[in-house]
Amino acid sequence: MNTADTNKVVGKPLNRVDGHLKVTGGARYAAEFPVAKIAYGVTIQSTIAKGKITQIDTKAAERLPGVLAVITHLNAPKAFGDKGGGRKLQVLQDNIVLYGGQHIGIVVADTFERAMHAASLVQVRYEEEKPTLNMRENLNKGYVPKSNRMPPDSSVGNVTQGLTSAAVRIEQTYTTPVENHNPMEPHATTAVWQGDQLLLYDATQGIFQVQEKVAGVLGIEPANVRVMSYYIGGGFGCKGSAWSHVPLAAMAARQVKRPVKLVLGRIQMYGPVGFRPETIQQVSLGATRDGKLTALRHTGTSQTSTFDEFIEPVGKSARMMYACPNIETSHRLVQLDQGTPTFMRAPGEASGSFALESAMDELAYALKIDPIELRLRNYAEVDPSKNLPWSSKSLRECYKVAAERFGWQKRNPKPRSMRDANYLIGWGMATATYPTNRSSASAIAQIMADGTAVIRTGSHDIGTGTYTVMTQVAAEALGIPVEKIRIELGDTNLPETPVSGGSQTAASVGSAVHLAGNQARAKLMQLALADQKSPLYGLNEQDIIAQDGQLLVKNKSSKAETYEAILTRHGLKMIEARADAKPGEEKEKYSMHSFGSQFAEVRVNPDSGEVRVTRWVGAFGVGRLLNAKTANSQLIGGIVYGIGMALMEHTVTDPNRGRVVNADLAEYHVPVNADIPEIDVLFVDERDPHINPLGVKGVGEIGITGVAAAIANAVYHATGKRIRDLPITLDKLL
Ligand code: MOS
Repeated sequence: MNTADTNKVVGKPLNRVDGHLKVTGGARYAAEFPVAKIAYGVTIQSTIAKGKITQIDTKAAERLPGVLAVITHLNAPKAFGDKGGGRKLQVLQDNIVLYGGQHIGIVVADTFERAMHAASLVQVRYEEEKPTLNMRENLNKGYVPKSNRMPPDSSVGNVTQGLTSAAVRIEQTYTTPVENHNPMEPHATTAVWQGDQLLLYDATQGIFQVQEKVAGVLGIEPANVRVMSYYIGGGFGCKGSAWSHVPLAAMAARQVKRPVKLVLGRIQMYGPVGFRPETIQQVSLGATRDGKLTALRHTGTSQTSTFDEFIEPVGKSARMMYACPNIETSHRLVQLDQGTPTFMRAPGEASGSFALESAMDELAYALKIDPIELRLRNYAEVDPSKNLPWSSKSLRECYKVAAERFGWQKRNPKPRSMRDANYLIGWGMATATYPTNRSSASAIAQIMADGTAVIRTGSHDIGTGTYTVMTQVAAEALGIPVEKIRIELGDTNLPETPVSGGSQTAASVGSAVHLAGNQARAKLMQLALADQKSPLYGLNEQDIIAQDGQLLVKNKSSKAETYEAILTRHGLKMIEARADAKPGEEKEKYSMHSFGSQFAEVRVNPDSGEVRVTRWVGAFGVGRLLNAKTANSQLIGGIVYGIGMALMEHTVTDPNRGRVVNADLAEYHVPVNADIPEIDVLFVDERDPHINPLGVKGVGEIGITGVAAAIANAVYHATGKRIRDLPITLDKLL
């Protein structure tokens, strides 16, 4: 049996179910919970990048009225190590300074203002050592990463031979700077102890990861830590793992015996909570005269900290993007005296596609082949790294529909050939791709006797629309209208789900909600079909349609029974099903990716070098859409941040002291409305029967991939200048 096709709510452009709560202030974020006797924590941060604290004078701070505690390494409670995944933390256990902005103390007071004032009175003396801060000067110290998140190297065929035999070669270096996430909502934690139980309201993309990490640091059972994160004002990866301030807030709350709220100031968001690392990448392409790739090598070095590893996997897309007999990738790390970098907006794919897709454009020019045509000549019919078929791939269609919408055939490929009055006009394109990730996830579906339903699942809505799309998935599985469905998420008391990162929430949690909903509906139906008092008694499942909270007999809608009637007659308050959904063998059988194409028009002022993006078309094959509106918004968001990456974003570190120079939104530029043109997002209809029960691929991160390259390629077309160093600022064009 099936829910009726007319009943399909999955895919519809439903408005956000939490939109009203958000615009009326009813949606509570981590720092907004009214907790009795709340105290305020403010952290003190190191002003040097490397060395030791030799003296820390807290007396003036402690004397201030309202100050409840000043905690430093001299009096901090013992921490129980760094169990759990995620980043290694600094929680006041010694006097060692590992990077600028490291939390070296926390002041707690009865008001935020008093805590801020007290923190400013703490005097710290250091024995300073010369920090290593420049990756480019230390490339000779590059090493092979040891962490096992992914194999750092890959090799198919023989790239050296492929390059030697090539008629045309492109060998170039591309660089990307440190970037910071800058979500609207800063990191924030409210820590409340109830006896041995710790409640944390935390701004996080991973409630279960925070639970495990904080429990590990405090040396308590994860079951004694409850993490809640109902609404999150943007994550972009920086909230994808627990950072030091979270256990520090819990430690402080235990010490002062009051709940503690700790919100990082905007300036504190640069340093101790991750960033996208700087990268240096080399791409070597070899090709025949008619544009067939004979070799593709993509190597990258990125920075990590001295105490932890994070790899920006820039070569990952090169492993699967184009058909080529010889492909090699590698990743190296250089340790710097800075905080540990972390996931940021398609880590690896966003930064790596800038290099690879710029190089493909350079090759297209060298061969005098249209850049779309070059990509089509090297279209990968299977994943060349795994030799596996794609679960689905609509990239040809993505090139086609976006090129048509953009008007690509009117392009004169000659640089500086297109003008609008005094401005130089450039058109550029690039390929987008992101893997479909999926992890185990659980969900409970409850059909209530009043005809409503509740879905309970851990997970998070980091602004992406999880509440909304899960409502739609549940509505379809249950055959209950969306208005009658309530989603509970963002609480470790709910069934376990993965971190909301890697664009995997829809595929992972969506699958669990879908299965739980189906099972709950099937249970209900069994009740009716086996019940002599039901008008459906004795019929087969195949004859029944679930719709609008009723079971209807196909082609005979007069025979029907409501969910309420079934449950009430059986004296049941509800019927419930739990699904523990996990990925299966599909990963062994298929390579699973989203694909897309990005088309940019730029207008360059030849006198000032100013670049404005004036048009954008992107087309994407991302499997089944759960919600046409939120998916469209996700892709627009990705493209907007890609424009930021291409033209503006750059975290500048003082080369001597290791402190971020532009640690605020006035100096760290992200795109604003005036920077963004109309963005035209097209979806290619794509049915993927293999990927997961919903056929959904995830739309969180693919939007940013390829964007910086499309812009760099458009800038080259406009100006004849190839910029291989992001961001493309006007000084580089003069
Ligand atoms: Mo995303 S960078 O995996 O939160």
